[in-house]
Amino acid sequence: MTGEGELAARLDALRRQLRHHDYRYYVLDDPEIPDSEYDRLLRELQSLEAAHPGLITPDSPTQRVGAEPLSSFAEAIHRQPMLSLQNAMDEAEMRAFDERLRRALGVERVAYVAEPKLDGLAISLLYEDGRLVRGATRGDGHRGEDVTAQVRTIRSIPLRLSGEDWPPLLEARGEVFLPIAAFEALNARLREAGGKTFKNPRNAAAGSLRQLDPKVTAERPLAMFCYGFGAFEGERPAATQSGMLAALRRWGLPVSPESKVVEGIDGCLAYHRALAERRDGLPYDIDGVVFKVEDLAAQERLGFVTREPRWAIAYKYPAQEALTQVLAVEFQVGRTGAVTPVARLAPVAVGGVTVSNATLHNLDEVRRKDVHVGDTVYVRRAGDVIPEVVRVLPERRPAEAQAVTLPSHCPVCGADVVRPPGEVVARCSGGLYCPAQRKEALVHFASRRALDIEGLGDKLIEQLVDKGLVQDPADLYGLSAETLAGLERMGEKSAQNLLAALEKGKATTFARFIYALGIREVGEATAAALAGRFPDLETLAAARVEDFQQTHGVKGISERAAERLCARLAEAGDTPPDGDLADWLAGLKITGLNRTTIPRLLAAFGDWAALRAARPEDLIYREGSLVEGVGPVVATHIVSFFAQRHNREVIDRLRAAGIHWPAPQPAAAAQAQAQPLAGKVFVITGTLSRPREAIKAELEALGAKVTGSVSGNTDYVLAGRDAGSKLERARALGRAVIDEEGLAALLERR
Ligand code: IVH
Repeated sequence: MTGEGELAARLDALRRQLRHHDYRYYVLDDPEIPDSEYDRLLRELQSLEAAHPGLITPDSPTQRVGAEPLSSFAEAIHRQPMLSLQNAMDEAEMRAFDERLRRALGVERVAYVAEPKLDGLAISLLYEDGRLVRGATRGDGHRGEDVTAQVRTIRSIPLRLSGEDWPPLLEARGEVFLPIAAFEALNARLREAGGKTFKNPRNAAAGSLRQLDPKVTAERPLAMFCYGFGAFEGERPAATQSGMLAALRRWGLPVSPESKVVEGIDGCLAYHRALAERRDGLPYDIDGVVFKVEDLAAQERLGFVTREPRWAIAYKYPAQEALTQVLAVEFQVGRTGAVTPVARLAPVAVGGVTVSNATLHNLDEVRRKDVHVGDTVYVRRAGDVIPEVVRVLPERRPAEAQAVTLPSHCPVCGADVVRPPGEVVARCSGGLYCPAQRKEALVHFASRRALDIEGLGDKLIEQLVDKGLVQDPADLYGLSAETLAGLERMGEKSAQNLLAALEKGKATTFARFIYALGIREVGEATAAALAGRFPDLETLAAARVEDFQQTHGVKGISERAAERLCARLAEAGDTPPDGDLADWLAGLKITGLNRTTIPRLLAAFGDWAALRAARPEDLIYREGSLVEGVGPVVATHIVSFFAQRHNREVIDRLRAAGIHWPAPQPAAAAQAQAQPLAGKVFVITGTLSRPREAIKAELEALGAKVTGSVSGNTDYVLAGRDAGSKLERARALGRAVIDEEGLAALLERR
């Protein structure tokens, strides 16, 4: 790039292109280029701006998110008050409105602009010379809050108007909202993080916009539709409401695609009815239809009553929320085994539909909302999503109301329900035979990275399960050519091919087989790690949660507690205190050193000498996983899976059917199979008959862990000639000290 002129031209071209593509994507929902191409343009602009910060303009597409969070919102005074709307709750009220207008205007029939009444929050956008200079909330109608920084993050709102004929000053007004899918995703995220969820998309939109840190707003995919004007300087581009909306569209502002001119009361009623039919399928919440007089001159003549225009009305739909009673709470098992509480409700009409069930998501949510059986609750439905219990009215709780508890066994198959520590979702552990999870388990079992059974896809599995031919993966191997050929879309040829594929899949690998079992959270990589660590399925199936963990130090002892304790021990000197050591320790009043941890501490570091020799790092509790990717949660899933007798039966039948894999590699076999020293911690010190590294490798192959320093966790110190401080420390800590002969004897014994 040479010359300033060229640089300026390139910046301008990039910004123009990006604005255009933002409009196509965020306003028209009709992108012209793939995301990768958009990203390329954006990156080019970003790097040019980074190299020439003096050339950054506030309306550049890179400048949507401001740098600093605000400390409070400034006041924004509206040049013209932001009004509200009169409501019609039924057809009679709507007819009365039309009647009044016809009489006042002296006409036979009034034309209206109809559009959905979005359930969000009203926002004013001020453009001066085509640039967005202020965004403001409605507030009390006269003064709102300045939310410019937040509004700038909404991608469908142009920072700069397009076209040419925009006025020098334009105030566009509209509704900012959060689409239902984004609302659901946001709540799911908040729920997962254990946080408080938003009650409905409107609250979520308001909460997201009224964030002092615009970065938070930027993470929420807010949207907007403009529905009219406030202040306006310059020539009006049209004499009708629809003409004005067309002008807003032309200038790049988002306007509802549903907005339409309708004729007379019949046109209004037909629009209202037709939109009601589609209400559940719309991607956003609406609570009615707004009708506005099409002719702007007529609007002016009609004027206002107090805070409402006479020329507009909101014809409402039935509310999406209603009060009802929780009759029972049952638990449903999803196709992935998730066990979800569902409230059975006294049937109630919500948004024109009768609702008798509502999801409670998970047990944490039940606790947070404090739902009891017998409670009176608000239920809410939006779009296609399952209705949910929003809130309890505690003042209406009957004395006999009952708390909700998680079942210990799957209501579908009876397997244990497990909820690993720290997890929100409880799951059924009968993965291989639970009817609720059948299809999912089979699809996974046959998938390419599992047993790779070509020709066994979703559709076929659906048929096999629905016809009762297959209940678990082992049943696949009992299928005959005749049975298969009798299925829909299956000829003799494809039946033969499928049988051949099943046969071929029988020769697999240990890792693939583990993966194919579909154990929760055991993906391909974890399955491979498990296959490398365990010599065979029996050993894996017998493992306990603790077997996947490696621990150091004393459980419950934090870094701070360890450091304080060591300091006090150092002060205390060599002579043990009189009386009971446990009492002396408790008397130190160190946070974290208590009735639970003191016995553990003394079990690991029996006496005064051992304790005195301990360093903080010997005491601090740490956990690690023995198998890559297997923390306590995954370990719980593995252990619970194999704990189910039915799962083990299916596995036995699979192996009886001929599924096999090569025996582990010699190295892995030696490491795992034997493991006579599994879990034992060794320290090697002094001069030995062989290189230390060789001994270390040998010990590790037998399952031991070799560390560099002696601590309370050391099981054996292998001491050679001239051993020094480590040997001393081992003695002080009361650890077993052996020599090479001793090691040989130890191995003999095991
Ligand atoms: S027109 C003077 N049109 O409803 C007319 N309002 O109860 C002012 N709303 O605060 C509003 N969708 O936030 C209009 N298509 C629409 C609307 C709409 C939602 C909200 C708006 C206003 C409230 C009035």
